[in-house]
Amino acid sequence: MNPAPNLILVGPMGAGKTCIGKRLAERFGLVFVDADQAIVDDVGSSIPEVFENVGEAGFRAHEKRVLAGLLAQTGQLISTGGGAVLDANNRQRIAQRGFVVYLRVSVGSQLQRLHRDKTRPLLQREDREQVLEQMATLRDPLYREVADLTIDTDLYSPAEATAQLVIRLATQWQYSELPA
Ligand code: S3P
Repeated sequence: MNPAPNLILVGPMGAGKTCIGKRLAERFGLVFVDADQAIVDDVGSSIPEVFENVGEAGFRAHEKRVLAGLLAQTGQLISTGGGAVLDANNRQRIAQRGFVVYLRVSVGSQLQRLHRDKTRPLLQREDREQVLEQMATLRDPLYREVADLTIDTDLYSPAEATAQLVIRLATQWQYSELPA
């Protein structure tokens, strides 16, 4: 049993963090928090506007600050943005303040799931596949570094992935205000 005060989902864009996260939050009686939405609420602009106004580096600074605020609280299911693990301090805080589930997804599934997406600034370009491949190569080891549990979402519908996770979390994670 791994005691932790929050459940935290990490993984790439299109892994199903929001969809699976909402279901898991309900199942475990946690408050669902989407870290990207928390940034939008805090800054008062959409994610594309933030990227346009302050660039990716500016977005990452907002992400770091807002995530630190969220992670100071308890009883939440936090769905993190796909790039949150790039920052070493974020990774350290994520690992300290939650039981971390890595939702893995293949680039092929990402391309299918995100092909109409207009909300992710990093994907508004022709060479999406290469961008996603490069991100996967860089980020997969970082997701694995923080994860207590990994599930391959290619294999399951959101409902099936949630059911799998409920079973596994019941034996592996224990809610505790005080992380070990
Ligand atoms: C990003 C993922 C997005 C969002 C931003 C950057 C990334 O979050 O934070 O567009 O770098 O992978 P989701 O993973 O929730 O789509």
